[in-house]
Amino acid sequence: MNYRHAFHAGNFADCMKHAVLVWLLRAMARKDTPFAVLDTHAGIGAYDLTSGPAERTGEWRAGIARLLEKTPPALQDYVALVRELGLYPGSPAIARALLRPQDRLVCCELHPEDAEILRHYFARDPTVAVHHRDGYEAFRALLPPKEKRGLILIDPPFEQPDEFARLATAITTSHARFRGGVIAAWYPIKGRAPVRAFHDTLRAGGVTDIVAAELFLREPLDAARLNGCGLLVVNPPYKFEQEIPALLDALLDRLGQGESGEGTALLRLKDES
Ligand SMILES: C[S@@+](CC[C@H](N)C(=O)[O-])C[C@H]1O[C@@H](n2cnc3c(N)ncnc32)[C@H](O)[C@@H]1O
Repeated sequence: MNYRHAFHAGNFADCMKHAVLVWLLRAMARKDTPFAVLDTHAGIGAYDLTSGPAERTGEWRAGIARLLEKTPPALQDYVALVRELGLYPGSPAIARALLRPQDRLVCCELHPEDAEILRHYFARDPTVAVHHRDGYEAFRALLPPKEKRGLILIDPPFEQPDEFARLATAITTSHARFRGGVIAAWYPIKGRAPVRAFHDTLRAGGVTDIVAAELFLREPLDAARLNGCGLLVVNPPYKFEQEIPALLDALLDRLGQGESGEGTALLRLKDES
């Protein structure tokens, strides 16, 4: 396991994922009934951008730094949370901040050091469980949640060549165990072909009600670069398709660099059955 998220925290892809995550969590909280969040690839929780790995790569300067400098209205909620939490919040910190007393968060992190840091981050917080385990294995034990309402975030590092296939299997497995669950799965857009194959796999499978939100910084021609990213959502909450385009456009407006082929997309891959 070579991937450490600290090198990339707060970059454009994190901003996209986390801004949509905030929207999804707000949507979950519209009903009073409790819900659970399962973060299968959790990372360390929060990141210091001004020293260590994040400072060395400086990726956040083309990401969250631009949003903090000038915040478009559609991103106010997300950016206000980043300001409030101090260190750059990863998905577990964002989820924890938006849970109500009746909700809970379960995190899986496989890297031993990162799992330990995350455990320490949530020490003595009874709302959060941190497991040092394979997030792809966790579905069987952790789904469905007793609350019968939940959000599953699957955010793998894409270190393995078969990661798209594993992600598609994970989506299918978690949907089979918990049909009503909202699933959000992040993916990189380097070239178009792997993304198309991933979408086709899901279109051909049994999971219904699937949309994908995508942000492109440029035409994905050079597969060695992270040219964009996507968040695939199963069972998108009410108004996702109406409200997310404005959020994506606001991200592009601040994070785009005017390169050819930049843009956003909201695709419906499968209808509700
Ligand atoms: C992209 S990062 C997660 C970032 C985090 N979700 C966030 O938004 O702040 C992916 C994480 O997954 C961890 N990881 C890799 N393989 C894993 C697996 N099979 N199960 C659980 N965690 C894994 C990595 O150590 C890394 O911390």
